[in-house]
Amino acid sequence: MKKTNKQLNEIIKDYDNYVLKTYTRKPYVFIRGKGSWLETIDHKKILDFFPGWGVSNFGHCHPMVVKAICEQAKKIIHMANVFYMPDQAYVAKEIVKSAFPGKVFFSNSGAEAVECAIKTAKAWGNTLSKNEFISFEKSFHGRTIGALTLTGQEKYRSPFGPLMPNVQYAKYNDIDSVRSLINKNTAAVILELVQGEGGVRLADKNFVKEIARLAKEKKFLLIFDEVQTGFGRTGKMFAFQNYGVKPDILCMGKSIAGGVAMGATLLAENIEGILLPGMHASTYGGNYIACAGAKAVMELIKKEKVLEKMKESEKIFHNFFLNLSVKYKEIISYRHLGLMFGIEMEGEFASKIADMALTEGLIINCTAGNVLRIMPALNISKNDILKGLKIIEKVFKNVLQ
Ligand SMILES: Cc1ncc(COP(=O)(O)O)c(C=O)c1O
Repeated sequence: MKKTNKQLNEIIKDYDNYVLKTYTRKPYVFIRGKGSWLETIDHKKILDFFPGWGVSNFGHCHPMVVKAICEQAKKIIHMANVFYMPDQAYVAKEIVKSAFPGKVFFSNSGAEAVECAIKTAKAWGNTLSKNEFISFEKSFHGRTIGALTLTGQEKYRSPFGPLMPNVQYAKYNDIDSVRSLINKNTAAVILELVQGEGGVRLADKNFVKEIARLAKEKKFLLIFDEVQTGFGRTGKMFAFQNYGVKPDILCMGKSIAGGVAMGATLLAENIEGILLPGMHASTYGGNYIACAGAKAVMELIKKEKVLEKMKESEKIFHNFFLNLSVKYKEIISYRHLGLMFGIEMEGEFASKIADMALTEGLIINCTAGNVLRIMPALNISKNDILKGLKIIEKVFKNVLQ
């Protein structure tokens, strides 16, 4: 047996013996990543069209991020949030400047960003006797109990009941369904502008605008969960900027710190005074390393003009997927916003295609059971796009013809 195979088998054996089996893992160990490329333990090169599961918007190990976190690690790694940290201040200021006026709370994950939104809406609602939440079918907001309760997918929630009370699920893009659930006790509506885990489903503009109007009229808070869509993914810094509507609360995570764990919640000026000292906290939230990574991300978005340059890549992907959906009747529908693509397929084809693509050297994702999800690095090169699309073409041919 080759040495690398032996190493791989030993790692897998240790997982079997010692790691909780909450993930269905694929037999790959990556030892290095650079841009849109990964190297496995047996030195195979894999192209990545879904880097870090929506985390590495600027590819693996972007040099600016690497330099920032390495330099920071040499100076100071961690201090408590009872002291001031310069990069935390910088990152909060940049988020506010690129989103809307308000104040930021830092945490460590998307689910925690959503928890902060829930606690804020609860504390705000309690002063007005409003304690009901509306979320959406097929939504995904995380795995902690609050975020899980808001997740509109029974399969994730059912083993863990009873969950948070007073949460209802409206139909996505169905304004009558939302209207029928709103009442004087509604504290907040939480919405993903593109449902990522739910199958890359885009909210209609009028639907979002009407919810925002209702929020003002009926006095409830509007929460946008942009954990997956934030930081350039949809062609704007935040997806809400495609819709001309601002929320009261913005949840961020995933790509915010270039791969270092971080979550953030921006509370608009009208509610920024709700969480007072002692009401919410996080030991690691906004720590030195995460903030160094986030600061590098904010700088590189501007310096590398990522939002402008990604338009060219979007065109290439879009034309390719349009042609693909004309060619294959097994494609039920194709959706995209910016560099977030979803190809909904009949039956089991999507998961077969994702699996075969991996064996051919390309990472793509299958979500919601039958949707291929592709979210490449925003700064991916044309050459790498064409290489990956060639693999997708081949795999479609092999699976469907
Ligand atoms: C929209 C959305 N919200 C929240 C989360 C939860 O993020 P995390 O896994 O970092 O807790 C995710 C994760 O996929 C997400 O896509």
